[in-house]
Amino acid sequence: MKLPEYFELDGGDRMPRIGFGTWQASDEELESAVADALAAGYRHFDSARAYENEAALGRALNKWIGGDKAKRRELFVVTKLPPGGNRPDLVQEYFDKSYSDLGLEYIDLYLMHTPFAFEHVPGDLHPKNPDGSMRVDLTTDLIAVWKALQKLKESGRVRHVGVSNVNAQQLQRLTAAGRPACLQIEMHALCQQEEMIAAAAALNIPVVAYSPLGSKALADALAAKTGREYPDLLTLPAVRAAAAAHGRTPAQALLRYALQRGVAVIPKSTNPQRILQNISLWDFNLSESEMASLRALDRGAAGRICDFSFFPGVEKHPEFPFNK
Ligand SMILES: NC(=O)c1ccc[n+]([C@@H]2O[C@H](COP(=O)([O-])OP(=O)(O)OC[C@H]3O[C@@H](n4cnc5c(N)ncnc54)[C@H](OP(=O)(O)O)[C@@H]3O)[C@@H](O)[C@H]2O)c1
Repeated sequence: MKLPEYFELDGGDRMPRIGFGTWQASDEELESAVADALAAGYRHFDSARAYENEAALGRALNKWIGGDKAKRRELFVVTKLPPGGNRPDLVQEYFDKSYSDLGLEYIDLYLMHTPFAFEHVPGDLHPKNPDGSMRVDLTTDLIAVWKALQKLKESGRVRHVGVSNVNAQQLQRLTAAGRPACLQIEMHALCQQEEMIAAAAALNIPVVAYSPLGSKALADALAAKTGREYPDLLTLPAVRAAAAAHGRTPAQALLRYALQRGVAVIPKSTNPQRILQNISLWDFNLSESEMASLRALDRGAAGRICDFSFFPGVEKHPEFPFNK
């Protein structure tokens, strides 16, 4: 089965369906990993102000671009408005900081990172109360923030805007105020997001799967803190069997599964072999029965890893997306 390698966006721009994740990479790791990723053929890079490494990403990309505008046009660079910037009057200021840290002529896609908000505290992206809970801003006007993101396009410094971590109801509300160019959500074998895929398809919004390999570093950190068990996706028998049948690694089977479901993937790695593995996905095909055995791993919302429990108190926000 030949799959499309890009999503076509408004205006004829193309978003590669395999991108490179940058969360939890130090500046030094990231600069070297991005050089490896570019050499391996990645052209889509996913970043965020909250990852605090946009400047390192920008340096590595600019080194490769070397001032050549045609090379810049080959890239698709994404970054995100952090929860502390979720106020219409702050969107421009937060965007300007990401824009100058990345040091690119334009950003391809700017996402609202979360529908919930923190208080704006200069110099502190994750402000906390003395008891350790987050300083949540309960007054968020989601639609006003979304309109402010759309306004950013007028400057030409950002080509597309989209959303992340919203639920189906929020996606519909937001779309009524302007269709997002992209929806980025957690998605992997344990959390397959059938409802969100259907909601986005109905609204003609392409979906990008984050943590497509199960975000092991986050899962390990949460397990250590809460005692909850997080299965390692790469060792699940159905994943190993699908991989072995094609002489591929478990990570490749998981990523190919997502591509065959019609979404984009943004795996993160700082290891040169794994970086190459994660983009070598176009030349094999999972069978119907392999797809069915992977589909059976779904645990729905219970399979979610990035549930934002690492931000205590955030579930009290009126726009927290995962309350029942
Ligand atoms: N919008 C959001 O709120 C949000 C939230 C989370 C993530 N994201 C984005 O999505 C990206 C990916 O998600 P993620 O970083 O959470 O997790 P992930 O990509 O699911 O998993 C990354 C982990 O898998 C390992 N890994 C990578 N390739 C592998 C392979 N071929 N075989 C075995 N292990 C492999 C990595 O280790 P090595 O580096 O050692 O290879 C790392 O520990 C992020 O980096 C970020 O850009 C967005």
